[in-house]
Amino acid sequence: WGPPPPPSYPLHITWKELLLTASLLIFWNPPTTAQVTIEAQPTKVSEGKDVLLLVHNLPQNLTGYSWYKGQIIDLQHYITAYTIDTEMIVFGPVYSGRETVYSNASLLIQNVTKNDTGSYTIQITKRGDETKGLTGHFTLYLEIPKPYISSSNLNPKEGTETVILSCDPDTQDVSYLWWIKGQRLPISRKLQLSENNRTLSLFGVTKDTAGPYECEMKNPGSSSRSDPVTLNLL
Ligand SMILES: *[C@@H]1O[C@H](CO)[C@@H](O)[C@H](O)[C@H]1NC(C)=O
Ligand SMILES: *[C@@H]1O[C@H](CO)[C@@H](O)[C@H](O)[C@H]1NC(C)=O
Ligand SMILES: *[C@@H]1O[C@H](CO)[C@@H](O)[C@H](O)[C@H]1NC(C)=O
Ligand SMILES: *[C@@H]1O[C@H](CO)[C@@H](O)[C@H](O)[C@H]1NC(C)=O
Ligand SMILES: *[C@@H]1O[C@H](CO)[C@@H](O)[C@H](O)[C@H]1NC(C)=O
Repeated sequence: WGPPPPPSYPLHITWKELLLTASLLIFWNPPTTAQVTIEAQPTKVSEGKDVLLLVHNLPQNLTGYSWYKGQIIDLQHYITAYTIDTEMIVFGPVYSGRETVYSNASLLIQNVTKNDTGSYTIQITKRGDETKGLTGHFTLYLEIPKPYISSSNLNPKEGTETVILSCDPDTQDVSYLWWIKGQRLPISRKLQLSENNRTLSLFGVTKDTAGPYECEMKNPGSSSRSDPVTLNLL
Protein backbone atom coordinates (compact mmCIF):
# COMPACT_ATOMS: atom_id res chain seq x y z
CA TRP A 1 0.00 0.00 0.00
CA GLY A 2 1.25 3.47 -0.87
CA PRO A 3 1.04 6.57 1.26
CA PRO A 4 -2.46 7.81 2.14
CA PRO A 5 -4.06 10.11 -0.44
CA PRO A 6 -3.58 13.83 0.15
CA PRO A 7 -6.39 15.50 2.07
CA SER A 8 -9.04 16.98 -0.15
CA TYR A 9 -9.88 20.62 0.27
CA PRO A 10 -13.28 22.15 -0.38
CA LEU A 11 -13.28 23.69 -3.82
CA HIS A 12 -16.30 25.87 -3.45
CA ILE A 13 -16.72 28.85 -1.20
CA THR A 14 -20.36 29.48 -0.45
CA TRP A 15 -21.85 32.96 -0.46
CA LYS A 16 -22.25 32.68 3.30
CA GLU A 17 -18.54 32.07 3.73
CA LEU A 18 -17.70 34.83 1.29
CA LEU A 19 -19.92 37.31 3.14
CA LEU A 20 -18.39 36.24 6.42
CA THR A 21 -14.91 36.80 5.04
CA ALA A 22 -15.95 40.20 3.72
CA SER A 23 -17.42 41.27 7.04
CA LEU A 24 -14.32 40.11 8.88
CA LEU A 25 -12.27 42.29 6.57
CA ILE A 26 -14.58 45.25 7.07
CA PHE A 27 -14.38 45.04 10.86
CA TRP A 28 -10.69 44.23 10.96
CA ASN A 29 -9.67 47.81 11.69
CA PRO A 30 -10.52 49.19 15.14
CA PRO A 31 -13.93 50.90 14.97
CA THR A 32 -12.43 54.20 16.20
CA THR A 33 -10.49 54.70 12.94
CA ALA A 34 -12.39 55.37 9.76
CA GLN A 35 -11.87 52.76 7.08
CA VAL A 36 -8.98 53.58 4.79
CA THR A 37 -10.42 53.77 1.29
CA ILE A 38 -8.76 53.85 -2.09
CA GLU A 39 -10.22 55.57 -5.11
CA ALA A 40 -8.93 55.52 -8.67
CA GLN A 41 -8.64 58.81 -10.53
CA PRO A 42 -9.88 58.80 -13.21
CA THR A 43 -12.37 56.09 -12.25
CA LYS A 44 -12.11 54.56 -15.72
CA VAL A 45 -8.66 53.89 -17.08
CA SER A 46 -7.72 52.50 -20.46
CA GLU A 47 -4.46 50.99 -21.62
CA GLY A 48 -1.61 53.48 -22.01
CA LYS A 49 -3.18 56.09 -19.70
CA ASP A 50 -2.18 57.06 -16.16
CA VAL A 51 -4.14 56.34 -13.01
CA LEU A 52 -3.74 57.69 -9.50
CA LEU A 53 -4.83 55.49 -6.60
CA LEU A 54 -5.90 58.07 -4.01
CA VAL A 55 -5.86 57.03 -0.38
CA HIS A 56 -8.53 58.57 1.84
CA ASN A 57 -9.04 58.57 5.62
CA LEU A 58 -5.39 58.20 6.49
CA PRO A 59 -4.95 58.17 10.26
CA GLN A 60 -2.57 60.56 12.04
CA ASN A 61 0.95 59.90 13.24
CA LEU A 62 2.17 57.49 10.60
CA THR A 63 5.67 56.31 9.81
CA GLY A 64 5.16 55.11 6.26
CA TYR A 65 3.27 53.25 3.54
CA SER A 66 4.04 50.18 1.47
CA TRP A 67 2.21 49.20 -1.71
CA TYR A 68 1.84 45.58 -2.81
CA LYS A 69 0.48 44.04 -6.02
CA GLY A 70 -2.18 41.52 -5.08
CA GLN A 71 -3.67 40.87 -1.69
CA ILE A 72 -0.56 39.40 -0.13
CA ILE A 73 1.81 41.42 2.00
CA ASP A 74 5.18 39.84 1.32
CA LEU A 75 8.44 40.68 -0.39
CA GLN A 76 7.50 39.00 -3.68
CA HIS A 77 4.51 41.32 -4.09
CA TYR A 78 6.26 44.47 -2.92
CA ILE A 79 6.04 47.43 -5.33
CA THR A 80 7.29 50.47 -3.47
CA ALA A 81 7.28 52.13 -0.06
CA TYR A 82 7.52 55.61 1.41
CA THR A 83 9.09 56.43 4.77
CA ILE A 84 7.75 59.68 6.19
CA ASP A 85 10.60 60.69 8.52
CA THR A 86 13.34 60.30 5.92
CA GLU A 87 11.13 60.97 2.85
CA MET A 88 12.80 57.89 1.42
CA ILE A 89 11.27 55.81 -1.36
CA VAL A 90 12.12 52.11 -1.65
CA PHE A 91 11.43 49.86 -4.66
CA GLY A 92 10.48 46.20 -4.49
CA PRO A 93 10.67 43.26 -6.90
CA VAL A 94 7.42 44.06 -8.73
CA TYR A 95 8.21 47.74 -9.24
CA SER A 96 7.92 48.28 -13.01
CA GLY A 97 9.42 51.78 -13.21
CA ARG A 98 5.97 53.29 -13.79
CA GLU A 99 4.80 53.58 -10.17
CA THR A 100 5.29 56.65 -7.98
CA VAL A 101 4.30 56.77 -4.33
CA TYR A 102 3.55 60.23 -2.92
CA SER A 103 4.00 61.57 0.61
CA ASN A 104 0.20 61.39 1.06
CA ALA A 105 0.29 57.62 0.31
CA SER A 106 -1.31 57.86 -3.14
CA LEU A 107 0.18 55.71 -5.89
CA LEU A 108 0.50 56.93 -9.47
CA ILE A 109 0.71 54.25 -12.17
CA GLN A 110 1.76 55.64 -15.54
CA ASN A 111 1.12 54.10 -18.93
CA VAL A 112 -1.15 51.38 -17.56
CA THR A 113 -0.84 47.94 -19.18
CA LYS A 114 -3.09 44.89 -18.96
CA ASN A 115 -0.62 43.49 -16.42
CA ASP A 116 -1.41 46.34 -14.04
CA THR A 117 -4.99 45.17 -13.58
CA GLY A 118 -5.86 43.24 -10.46
CA SER A 119 -5.69 44.02 -6.81
CA TYR A 120 -3.43 46.34 -4.87
CA THR A 121 -2.81 46.47 -1.13
CA ILE A 122 -1.46 49.37 0.87
CA GLN A 123 0.02 48.74 4.27
CA ILE A 124 0.11 51.76 6.55
CA THR A 125 2.33 51.76 9.61
CA LYS A 126 1.58 53.88 12.65
CA ARG A 127 4.16 55.35 14.97
CA GLY A 128 4.76 53.23 18.03
CA ASP A 129 2.68 50.44 16.49
CA GLU A 130 4.94 49.21 13.68
CA THR A 131 3.89 45.59 14.02
CA LYS A 132 0.17 45.94 13.34
CA GLY A 133 -0.42 48.39 10.53
CA LEU A 134 -3.61 49.12 8.64
CA THR A 135 -4.31 47.81 5.20
CA GLY A 136 -6.43 48.97 2.30
CA HIS A 137 -7.31 47.11 -0.90
CA PHE A 138 -8.19 48.20 -4.38
CA THR A 139 -8.90 46.31 -7.60
CA LEU A 140 -7.96 47.97 -10.86
CA TYR A 141 -9.84 47.12 -14.06
CA LEU A 142 -9.26 48.52 -17.51
CA GLU A 143 -12.08 50.34 -19.20
CA ILE A 144 -13.76 48.16 -21.76
CA PRO A 145 -13.52 49.43 -25.32
CA LYS A 146 -16.74 49.67 -27.31
CA PRO A 147 -17.22 46.26 -28.95
CA TYR A 148 -18.43 45.74 -32.51
CA ILE A 149 -20.22 42.89 -34.24
CA SER A 150 -18.74 41.17 -37.29
CA SER A 151 -20.90 38.93 -39.41
CA SER A 152 -19.87 36.10 -41.72
CA ASN A 153 -22.71 37.20 -44.01
CA LEU A 154 -24.83 40.33 -43.73
CA ASN A 155 -27.23 39.26 -46.52
CA PRO A 156 -28.19 35.63 -45.84
CA LYS A 157 -30.84 33.78 -47.85
CA GLU A 158 -33.93 33.50 -45.73
CA GLY A 159 -34.29 30.23 -43.81
CA THR A 160 -31.34 28.41 -45.33
CA GLU A 161 -28.00 29.98 -44.54
CA THR A 162 -25.98 29.82 -41.31
CA VAL A 163 -24.56 33.13 -40.14
CA ILE A 164 -21.84 33.53 -37.55
CA LEU A 165 -21.77 36.75 -35.59
CA SER A 166 -18.74 37.57 -33.48
CA CYS A 167 -18.24 40.18 -30.83
CA ASP A 168 -14.87 41.87 -31.20
CA PRO A 169 -12.28 42.52 -29.90
CA ASP A 170 -11.37 39.12 -28.48
CA THR A 171 -10.21 39.98 -24.98
CA GLN A 172 -9.38 37.93 -21.92
CA ASP A 173 -10.98 38.45 -18.52
CA VAL A 174 -14.25 39.82 -19.90
CA SER A 175 -17.60 38.16 -20.40
CA TYR A 176 -19.66 38.51 -23.55
CA LEU A 177 -23.43 38.97 -23.62
CA TRP A 178 -25.80 39.11 -26.58
CA TRP A 179 -29.09 40.90 -27.13
CA ILE A 180 -31.68 40.47 -29.83
CA LYS A 181 -34.29 43.21 -30.29
CA GLY A 182 -33.15 44.62 -26.94
CA GLN A 183 -33.81 41.32 -25.11
CA ARG A 184 -31.44 38.63 -23.83
CA LEU A 185 -31.19 35.71 -26.26
CA PRO A 186 -34.04 33.19 -26.07
CA ILE A 187 -33.20 29.51 -25.77
CA SER A 188 -33.54 28.19 -29.27
CA ARG A 189 -32.10 25.45 -31.44
CA LYS A 190 -31.56 28.14 -34.09
CA LEU A 191 -29.12 30.06 -31.91
CA GLN A 192 -25.88 28.69 -30.56
CA LEU A 193 -23.24 30.46 -28.51
CA SER A 194 -19.57 29.49 -28.48
CA GLU A 195 -18.00 28.35 -25.24
CA ASN A 196 -16.93 31.84 -24.15
CA ASN A 197 -20.09 33.40 -25.64
CA ARG A 198 -18.06 35.55 -28.02
CA THR A 199 -19.52 34.08 -31.20
CA LEU A 200 -23.13 33.36 -32.00
CA SER A 201 -24.21 30.95 -34.73
CA LEU A 202 -27.60 31.49 -36.33
CA PHE A 203 -28.99 28.50 -38.20
CA GLY A 204 -31.43 29.35 -40.98
CA VAL A 205 -32.04 33.05 -40.36
CA THR A 206 -35.67 34.14 -40.57
CA LYS A 207 -37.40 37.51 -40.00
CA ASP A 208 -37.63 36.54 -36.31
CA THR A 209 -33.91 36.03 -35.93
CA ALA A 210 -32.64 38.75 -38.28
CA GLY A 211 -31.96 41.12 -35.40
CA PRO A 212 -31.11 43.80 -34.48
CA TYR A 213 -28.28 42.18 -32.49
CA GLU A 214 -26.12 43.89 -29.92
CA CYS A 215 -23.25 42.47 -27.95
CA GLU A 216 -21.82 43.60 -24.64
CA MET A 217 -18.40 43.16 -23.06
CA LYS A 218 -18.28 43.22 -19.33
CA ASN A 219 -15.90 42.94 -16.37
CA PRO A 220 -16.63 43.74 -12.71
CA GLY A 221 -15.42 47.31 -13.30
CA SER A 222 -17.24 48.34 -16.45
CA SER A 223 -19.23 47.22 -19.46
CA SER A 224 -19.80 48.43 -22.98
CA ARG A 225 -22.35 47.63 -25.68
CA SER A 226 -21.92 47.51 -29.46
CA ASP A 227 -23.98 49.31 -32.06
CA PRO A 228 -26.89 47.18 -33.28
CA VAL A 229 -26.50 45.02 -36.38
CA THR A 230 -29.45 43.72 -38.40
CA LEU A 231 -29.17 41.04 -41.09
CA ASN A 232 -30.69 41.85 -44.44
CA LEU A 233 -32.61 38.77 -45.60
CA LEU A 234 -32.57 37.94 -49.30
C1 LIG B 1 -1.91 63.25 -2.97
O1 LIG B 1 -0.85 63.65 -3.80
C2 LIG B 1 -1.07 63.61 -5.19
C3 LIG B 1 0.20 64.01 -5.92
O2 LIG B 1 0.71 65.21 -5.46
C4 LIG B 1 -2.28 64.50 -5.54
O3 LIG B 1 -2.56 64.40 -6.94
C5 LIG B 1 -3.48 64.06 -4.73
O4 LIG B 1 -4.58 64.90 -5.01
C6 LIG B 1 -3.15 64.11 -3.25
N1 LIG B 1 -4.32 63.82 -2.42
C7 LIG B 1 -4.78 62.64 -1.98
C8 LIG B 1 -6.02 62.63 -1.16
O5 LIG B 1 -4.24 61.61 -2.21
C1 LIG C 1 3.68 52.95 -22.84
O1 LIG C 1 3.97 51.55 -22.91
C2 LIG C 1 4.11 51.07 -24.22
C3 LIG C 1 4.31 49.55 -24.15
O2 LIG C 1 4.30 49.08 -22.87
C4 LIG C 1 5.28 51.78 -24.92
O3 LIG C 1 5.39 51.31 -26.24
C5 LIG C 1 5.01 53.29 -24.88
O4 LIG C 1 6.13 53.95 -25.42
C6 LIG C 1 4.78 53.76 -23.47
N1 LIG C 1 4.41 55.18 -23.51
C7 LIG C 1 4.86 56.07 -22.67
C8 LIG C 1 4.35 57.47 -22.84
O5 LIG C 1 5.66 55.78 -21.79
C1 LIG D 1 2.79 40.92 -18.62
O1 LIG D 1 2.96 39.73 -17.84
C2 LIG D 1 3.37 38.63 -18.58
C3 LIG D 1 3.35 37.42 -17.66
O2 LIG D 1 3.60 37.76 -16.35
C4 LIG D 1 4.74 38.92 -19.18
O3 LIG D 1 5.16 37.80 -19.94
C5 LIG D 1 4.65 40.15 -20.06
O4 LIG D 1 5.94 40.47 -20.56
C6 LIG D 1 4.10 41.31 -19.29
N1 LIG D 1 3.88 42.43 -20.19
C7 LIG D 1 4.19 43.68 -19.90
C8 LIG D 1 3.87 44.71 -20.95
O5 LIG D 1 4.69 44.00 -18.83
C1 LIG E 1 2.47 60.14 17.84
O1 LIG E 1 3.13 59.01 18.35
C2 LIG E 1 4.06 59.29 19.39
C3 LIG E 1 4.81 58.01 19.76
O2 LIG E 1 3.92 56.96 20.05
C4 LIG E 1 3.31 59.89 20.59
O3 LIG E 1 4.22 60.22 21.59
C5 LIG E 1 2.56 61.14 20.12
O4 LIG E 1 1.78 61.65 21.17
C6 LIG E 1 1.65 60.81 18.93
N1 LIG E 1 1.04 62.05 18.41
C7 LIG E 1 -0.21 62.12 18.03
C8 LIG E 1 -0.67 63.45 17.48
O5 LIG E 1 -1.00 61.16 18.08
C1 LIG F 1 -22.56 32.31 -21.55
O1 LIG F 1 -23.87 32.81 -21.45
C2 LIG F 1 -24.73 32.03 -20.63
C3 LIG F 1 -26.11 32.64 -20.67
O2 LIG F 1 -26.43 33.14 -21.92
C4 LIG F 1 -24.19 32.00 -19.21
O3 LIG F 1 -24.98 31.17 -18.40
C5 LIG F 1 -22.76 31.48 -19.21
O4 LIG F 1 -22.23 31.56 -17.91
C6 LIG F 1 -21.90 32.29 -20.18
N1 LIG F 1 -20.57 31.70 -20.23
C7 LIG F 1 -19.45 32.45 -20.14
C8 LIG F 1 -18.16 31.70 -20.25
O5 LIG F 1 -19.47 33.66 -19.95
